[in-house]
Amino acid sequence: MPKVIVSGGCGYIGSHSAVDLIANGFDVISIDSFIRSQPKILKHIEHVSGKAYINYSTDLCDKKQIVELFNTHADAVGIIHFAALKSVPESVKKPLDYYSNNIGGLCNLLEMMSEYNIPNIIFSSSCSVYGNVQTLPVKEDSPMGKAESPYAATKQMGERIIEDFIRSEKDKNAVLLRYFNPGGAHPSGWLGEMPQNGVSNLIPILMNAVSGANSDFHVHGSDYPTRDGTCIRDYIHIMDLADAHTRSLRHLLNGQNSNACEIFNVGIGEGVSVLEAIKATELATGLKVPYKVGPRRAGDVVAIYADYTKAAHLLGWKPKYDINDIMRTAWKWEQYLKSESEG
Ligand code: WQD
Repeated sequence: MPKVIVSGGCGYIGSHSAVDLIANGFDVISIDSFIRSQPKILKHIEHVSGKAYINYSTDLCDKKQIVELFNTHADAVGIIHFAALKSVPESVKKPLDYYSNNIGGLCNLLEMMSEYNIPNIIFSSSCSVYGNVQTLPVKEDSPMGKAESPYAATKQMGERIIEDFIRSEKDKNAVLLRYFNPGGAHPSGWLGEMPQNGVSNLIPILMNAVSGANSDFHVHGSDYPTRDGTCIRDYIHIMDLADAHTRSLRHLLNGQNSNACEIFNVGIGEGVSVLEAIKATELATGLKVPYKVGPRRAGDVVAIYADYTKAAHLLGWKPKYDINDIMRTAWKWEQYLKSESEG
């Protein structure tokens, strides 16, 4: 079985992607320090995949420890690099945490890739690299605007670092996946987001609000130049996103990439406003979202959604789920979390 090293393999996207990779015949070795995830997710990954899951609880910024890991797994055919801090508002408050973690971890991993001659890397980039755009939907060659947050800046820099690295190396290839807004959970109800320090993205916050785990939900701004005044995002189901990674890895392993560093948008091409996301939550749960409209949030772009034609053509990727499936599966997972916390 081809071996793949997955950083952040216990995080939200990493755990779902690991399950999909295992189902597609890959041997997954995870590196996750649990700074943002919880060790108990391991039993969920094992339950869903039906296989033992190896995780090294190592910080990517700790070079000595990652060298040991690469000594053991130098036969890996690729690396998928998920491990990073991902909250836009937190990055505005703690920029240095974001620069040291997201950039430092990436550089160490690339050094290992070079030293141990690992041929392929897939990088978790983000639609936030586009900034505030003039023309929607965005294509991979749409011009990159100003990074609206330190988080977005780390993704722009990460892409540039990988492009420079790949150019400087022989026989190394990369895929940069620009994620739009991931949401939802594994349809079995056995795997979902289990963060260490509370949730930070729209969908889990909405789920907490309807389940009563949180007080009112706050809409961050209703005076944007959009159809209902709230920000627009392209929400993509976590299993569709996982599928994009498995396909990207195969694409690299089969030598199908036309470029040593290939970029793909991974969004479903549908813009959903915050108010529309509230409605979809109410439809999926049968419950009212208690919400208040507040001021704008620093670092937010107004509207963004993807043109995913390139991923469809070159990876054969097509989203299977929509916003209602996202909310339905997110709600199923929320109920599991609630039953777990009630013992
Ligand atoms: C979505 C919308 C908020 C919370 C994310 C990820 C980042 C990434 C790109 C890849 C915004 C609004 C939110 C709330 C609200 N890509 N909102 N009330 O900032 O688009 O960035 O997507 O992985 O990793 O963080 O996502 O979920 O924080 O916000 O009104 O309580 O919901 O203002 O318009 P964002 P988000």
